[in-house]
Amino acid sequence: EPTGVLVVGSITADVTAFSQRLPRRGETVLGDDFTLVLGGKGANQAVSAAHSGAPTWMVACVGQDPFRDIVLSGLEAHGVTLTEVRTVEGRTGVAHIRVDASGENDIIITPLANASLDEAMVTESIERIRDRAGVLLLQLEIRTEVACHAAREGAAAGLTVVLDPAPAQKLPDDVWPYLDIVTPNESEATVLTGVQVTDLASAERAAAWFLERGVRHAIITLGAGGALSVTKERTRHFPAYAVTPVDTTAAGDAFTGFFGGALAAGLDVDTAIQYGMAAGALATTKAGASPSLPGRDDVEPLVNTPMEGATR
Ligand code: RIB
Ligand code: NA
Repeated sequence: EPTGVLVVGSITADVTAFSQRLPRRGETVLGDDFTLVLGGKGANQAVSAAHSGAPTWMVACVGQDPFRDIVLSGLEAHGVTLTEVRTVEGRTGVAHIRVDASGENDIIITPLANASLDEAMVTESIERIRDRAGVLLLQLEIRTEVACHAAREGAAAGLTVVLDPAPAQKLPDDVWPYLDIVTPNESEATVLTGVQVTDLASAERAAAWFLERGVRHAIITLGAGGALSVTKERTRHFPAYAVTPVDTTAAGDAFTGFFGGALAAGLDVDTAIQYGMAAGALATTKAGASPSLPGRDDVEPLVNTPMEGATR
């Protein structure tokens, strides 16, 4: 069984200013710190999958600018294979983030090169990597049609297709049957299904919405409420790992990436969920996005089940 993870998605430079409070409209405030690091939900998932020990490829586009070197060296440093990353005309995607002293943030994502990722590139990359990968990870910071195309091609190639529908947006009805697993959080599940997700009962109703449309397995992540895993056969609640969160940015990416890596390593789905949850919980204990993604040495002790089968 191939143990690799293929991530089709976004790469951004996360440009973050930290200040005591966010400026009001038209106002200027002084900041306390500033960072420029690798980010983007696709790249974060890829880093988290690589941290799990999975051979990981990223299918994505970057531009021709200084941000390109920053994001690519970041991915490389975390062990993500870059052979399927294309450099296109224009600039690398940017997430412009502002964070206040309480950890509250707002974000403007400008796709730039991420909008150049197209169906043909995805088809070619899946063709090249399919024999080495078992799992395909998707999110929604690339063009929706391209993410949907990747789901169809990944399913046709026999990959386990996992979509984290983040940031939440409407998808065409015909994509759901191609998805093996979706991993929305409460707010994403609420936007997509129209069910106000506030507790386990409403999470179960939201999960049913996905299953009725053809998704085989819905995993609704509930922050401190843990995660609810729902298939036609079985519903199981997983309690959260107890941590003290300082910044929840990229927790969802940590979850889906580590979960996908654990699945590709051949772990059963319940254990893979626990790996994802532990990675997501640990990601909240550190500031920032990609710099907060935990490694296998931090995650494994929390879960108590060794990742046998995975390569370190
Ligand atoms: O999920 C976290 C990511 O979302 C950040 O890295 C930032 O790029 C935003 O897109
Ligand atoms: Na974080």
